[in-house]
Amino acid sequence: MKKLFIKTYGCQMNAYDSARMADLLAPLGYAATDAADGADMVILNTCHIREKAAEKVYSELGRLAQMKREKPGLLVAVAGCIAQAEGEEMTTRVPAIDMLVGPQSYHRLPEMIARHARGQGQVLETDFPALEKFDHLPQSTDTAVSAFLTVQEGCDKFCTFCVVPYTRGPEHSRSPESVIAEAKALASRGAREIVLLGQNVNAYRGTDAAGKIWNLARLAAGLADVEDILRIRYMTSHPRDMDDELIAAHGANEKLMPFLHLPGQSGSDTVLEAMNRQHTADDYLRLIERLRAARPDIAFSSDFIVGFPGESDADFQATMDLVRTVKFAQCFSFKYSPRPGTPAAGARKVIAEAVKTERLQALQALLLQQQDQANLSVIGKSVPVLFEKSGRDPGQLVGRTPWLQPVHVHGPKSLIGRVADVAIERLTANSLHGALHDESVLLESALA
Ligand code: 5AD
Ligand code: SF4
Repeated sequence: MKKLFIKTYGCQMNAYDSARMADLLAPLGYAATDAADGADMVILNTCHIREKAAEKVYSELGRLAQMKREKPGLLVAVAGCIAQAEGEEMTTRVPAIDMLVGPQSYHRLPEMIARHARGQGQVLETDFPALEKFDHLPQSTDTAVSAFLTVQEGCDKFCTFCVVPYTRGPEHSRSPESVIAEAKALASRGAREIVLLGQNVNAYRGTDAAGKIWNLARLAAGLADVEDILRIRYMTSHPRDMDDELIAAHGANEKLMPFLHLPGQSGSDTVLEAMNRQHTADDYLRLIERLRAARPDIAFSSDFIVGFPGESDADFQATMDLVRTVKFAQCFSFKYSPRPGTPAAGARKVIAEAVKTERLQALQALLLQQQDQANLSVIGKSVPVLFEKSGRDPGQLVGRTPWLQPVHVHGPKSLIGRVADVAIERLTANSLHGALHDESVLLESALA
């Protein structure tokens, strides 16, 4: 057996891609390992979304080049969005790279390894043959209770700050049949929750064998028919693509969890316009209201950027106001960083670093307060928890509420992969603690 180490940067889609690359290389005799030391092949699955990512990858490559001097047979591959963006520049700068593959071409890795072995030197693949990728991947071997499943890739939105449309290419959706088949295969290996992934997942438009187009609401309904799948989530969504059917599905599809990651980016219409978000702050707020009307207990998370070029104090306050109005359960917030090749990178009215820092701190303090509030609101309640794995302490289990909060309880391992009601008692840091109170489960626990 040869050892394969994959280092994953960035988002869940990259985590999914890394798992699929491991599946793809398993038939070639590669077994996954968790350190670069002693590996026969190292893949860096890179992310380009924010600053300094490329620097980190280059310094990691420096270390790998050193390792390669000691072990000349070591294969070094760079995958993901930085590979796509930098292409030949990267292979020229780092001769130790054997293979460079973009996110839409990694199904070609086995062939690239063969070409490299035949002495072709550095092998590059950075096309966008999106249509063929999923047809060439072997079945996933994931055994997680909560499993990722990529259904859509790419982005046609072109927010002016974002590299994704350039690195992941145009929007493309997998067929509903292939998604449902993969979900069934995951369920047969123990998955009880499916997290549908896509850069713009709610723009999903899959064509079935009869030529019919399925939107995400229909896909979620199809997946809800799979008995062993108990929970369905999806991320990341664009406000513009939240159609009526998907909003209604949050009220009608019981397996669709009441939690939605819906990036807002800013609360100022001027900034939203400059970002080319194609919605106003009011559009966003009305959408939140409609989702709450469909599913009153729905919780929201979001992404916000502070310090976008031209962002005034009033613009930033508009973001704070929007956050206060919505009350998020969880949120990610970032300082704007210019990404090479994106329209906003050339903007003149840049915001001073100190101002960005100040705004980010104020926003994060507010978001943290809201997150605590959301966690505290379930204390004293009985909540259905899907158990995913054992915890660190003996006899401890870790699961999640419908609102994605981690919960720790003491209970039998047989609960892993099942949903049981938990009486939530207290909150520590970001985790809830409680006790099982379903009598049949307690009996099982006593017998275990
Ligand atoms: N600067 C800062 N944050 C960014 N994001 C994307 N591009 C940038 C950038 N250039 C953030 C957005 C997006 C999240 C994944 O990363 O908020 O939703
Ligand atoms: Fe980037 Fe905007 Fe597309 Fe999201 S919708 S991936 S932020 S361009």
